[in-house]
Amino acid sequence: MLTQDQLKKQAAEAALELVAEVAGPDVVIGVGTGSTADLFIDGLAAFKGRLRGTVASSERSAQRLAGHGLPVLDLNDVASMPIYVDGADEIDHSLAMIKGGGGALTREKIVASVAERFVCIADESKLVQRLGRFPLPVEIIPMAREVVARRLAALGGKPVLRAGFVTDNGNHILDVHGLDIQDPKGLEGLVNDIPGVVTCGLFAIAGADVALLATQQGIRRL
Ligand code: A5P
Repeated sequence: MLTQDQLKKQAAEAALELVAEVAGPDVVIGVGTGSTADLFIDGLAAFKGRLRGTVASSERSAQRLAGHGLPVLDLNDVASMPIYVDGADEIDHSLAMIKGGGGALTREKIVASVAERFVCIADESKLVQRLGRFPLPVEIIPMAREVVARRLAALGGKPVLRAGFVTDNGNHILDVHGLDIQDPKGLEGLVNDIPGVVTCGLFAIAGADVALLATQQGIRRL
């Protein structure tokens, strides 16, 4: 019986096989944030010298990449990347996701938008029939906390300020509990349109292109 950490490592290794297919001196890899992404970063160290570099979705991942001697590039200097590899807090069968448990959702969405393919790596426990059991993270401009919270409550959720947490962008996070997300794309648009919201952790309008889900029986590819 594999532990959850061993499953995460298996998913990270499956993504590293995709990196091996595209690696080259001009290639930049987009890198996510979280415990599964950390394992991917550790494996990416083997590609040192075989890539132009990486773009990180958080200060935390940038430090880990740099610690392995991998070049971390400014997104402003990168026009394209073949893949972006990241975990998820929940993923459904249409490859829509909730992300942002680690608070890096905005940079994750930005970096992912530049990549040709979003490769989601996770253990199979992240696969759900319907998104919403995991509270939806919403990054907000601090002065808009109360007005955004009221608007989120009107959408049926219970927003809770993530206490003592400041994002890499200097903003706050509201974690929205109790949402029954029947239309992930529609809700993503509604939440992102609230003035004061930077972005929400729904990745549905642009979801994953492939999910590598580690199971006790091996990798399940969606
Ligand atoms: C970070 O902000 C998140 O989007 C993570 O990618 C997500 O929470 C998955 O993290 P784990 O791999 O630690 O479960």
